[in-house]
Amino acid sequence: MITPEHLVEELERRNRLAEEGGGEERRERQHKEGKLSARERIELLLDEGTFEETDRLVMHRSTDFGMQEKRVPGDGFVTGYGRIDGRVVFVFAQDFTVFGGSLSEANAAKIVKLMDMAMRVGAPVIGLNDSGGARIQEGVVSLAGYSDIFLRNTLSSGVIPQISAILGPCAGGAVYSPAITDFTLMVDKTSYMFVTGPDVIKTVTHEDVTKEKLGGASTHNEISGVAHFMAHDDRECLAMVRELFSFMPSNNLDDPPRRPCTDPVDRADRELDTLVPADSTKPYDMKEVIHRLVDDRYFFEVHEHFAANLVVGFARLNGRPVGIVANQPAVLAGVLDINASVKGARFVRFCDAFNIPLLTLEDVPGFLPGVDQEYGGIIRHGAKLLYAFAEATVPKMTVITRKAYGGAYCVMSSKHIRTDVNLAWPTAEIAVMGPEGAVNVVYGREFQKVLKEAAEREGPLSEERKAEVLKEIRAEKVDEFREQFANPYVAAERGYVDAVIYPRETRRRLITALEMLDGKREKNPPKKHGNIPL
Ligand code: HXC
Repeated sequence: MITPEHLVEELERRNRLAEEGGGEERRERQHKEGKLSARERIELLLDEGTFEETDRLVMHRSTDFGMQEKRVPGDGFVTGYGRIDGRVVFVFAQDFTVFGGSLSEANAAKIVKLMDMAMRVGAPVIGLNDSGGARIQEGVVSLAGYSDIFLRNTLSSGVIPQISAILGPCAGGAVYSPAITDFTLMVDKTSYMFVTGPDVIKTVTHEDVTKEKLGGASTHNEISGVAHFMAHDDRECLAMVRELFSFMPSNNLDDPPRRPCTDPVDRADRELDTLVPADSTKPYDMKEVIHRLVDDRYFFEVHEHFAANLVVGFARLNGRPVGIVANQPAVLAGVLDINASVKGARFVRFCDAFNIPLLTLEDVPGFLPGVDQEYGGIIRHGAKLLYAFAEATVPKMTVITRKAYGGAYCVMSSKHIRTDVNLAWPTAEIAVMGPEGAVNVVYGREFQKVLKEAAEREGPLSEERKAEVLKEIRAEKVDEFREQFANPYVAAERGYVDAVIYPRETRRRLITALEMLDGKREKNPPKKHGNIPL
């Protein structure tokens, strides 16, 4: 006869098996590789003691390949909910010790259930990925499970934040779930992502490449831009997820959480007055500007290693999270290229979807000229950034610190695309192009005439002599042009910038503007969805 004691014993047995996962030996192997177990990861991610596990007793239903004998409660995915800084989050962690963390029909259903619940309550989903992909023994049923997850990733996009930490393998079609989520973090040397691995590549294209070089954390942080963050180990990665979440709301109907701020609102930073070099061809570090403006100089950079000519990330102004998009004059003179445009566009859209005000710091000489860029579709990609800024309805503020040239002036959150507060420093140069290029176009015919006259007097001129002959007149025209256009006053006279301000007062101005914009309610025309140039 089955007694209540038997039933409790059975529960204890099943619980023990769920916690053991693939067993001590496999867990040891995981540790030796520098990786934590699924449960250890969840412990580190969540506030202490808040994890409530769901579907701990779910098991796979496969009978092929002797699978019936190999059933582990939980089936290799640990799922549930808990809290980060007191706020509810949903989490799943793939346990590599159980069938290599592979996705089965049963554990896919666990994730689907979790994602549906997250949407019902409006809380984020955080995925801790460490998996050999589709469970080979289950075939198409596993692929169906992935598809169910992809659909939910898509439908949840813009409603609840989704964060993916890659803490081991993530290969094949499995990569597309993290790819749809908002942020991807990878751990250096222990994680990798690729659509097809080195062996297949060798067969198809005869290229020799290691897993690390093909899809390691450096590759995806620096070259492909697939990953937004790189951590040294699991522990750091999970701490980064917590930090990242602190800047975002739990869903698209909430505001991001504000923090008490002890950094004075009116803190004037006189160093800012001289930070931009007098010579407008000289670089400076825009991150220095950011640090001097934001609360406690704290800037949480996103996509730090990718397209460093544009800086994006989160900070706080008087305790309120803001998303910062800033040209970086210290890298490629802050020019906008394909990668920078895509990086910026994705970040702007995240902030807009989740009610995070945008601050743009602008010093941009234009879009990068070049055959590679044109062939690569800079028109299409640059348009993404323009589209993203234009459609964004969150509070938008722009500070032009120096160059705002050409199309890039329009794109970088200009007044004309509904930016609420546009400020300029006295060093701002707002023009169709830089003075050197402009005089060549405008006075080209006149320069030719001067050269022709000189050639008539002196005979054929060397390139050096030509430069010498033009030196004076060119300098005169550049000065004239600079005086007339390369300043913030033409724009200020027309109201394209709301104010030309002393750099030292920027922090106060931004915080006051942000407070003014607190009640902003702007909507785009109703439509099914726009057609951002992809
Ligand atoms: C079932 C799997 C598995 C899988 C690993 N295992 N991957 N079981 N299905 N996909 C099991 C192994 O049999 C092994 O079991 C244990 O997990 C650990 O695997 P190892 O190979 O010993 O580990 P390691 O040497 O670290 O190699 C890890 C690996 C390798 C590189 C991930 O396991 C591997 O190549 N796996 C297959 C990857 C793959 O091709 N998956 C399909 C991708 S396509 P034991 O019992 O020995 O411990 C895909 C499509 C998604 O996922 C489509 C979405 C639309």
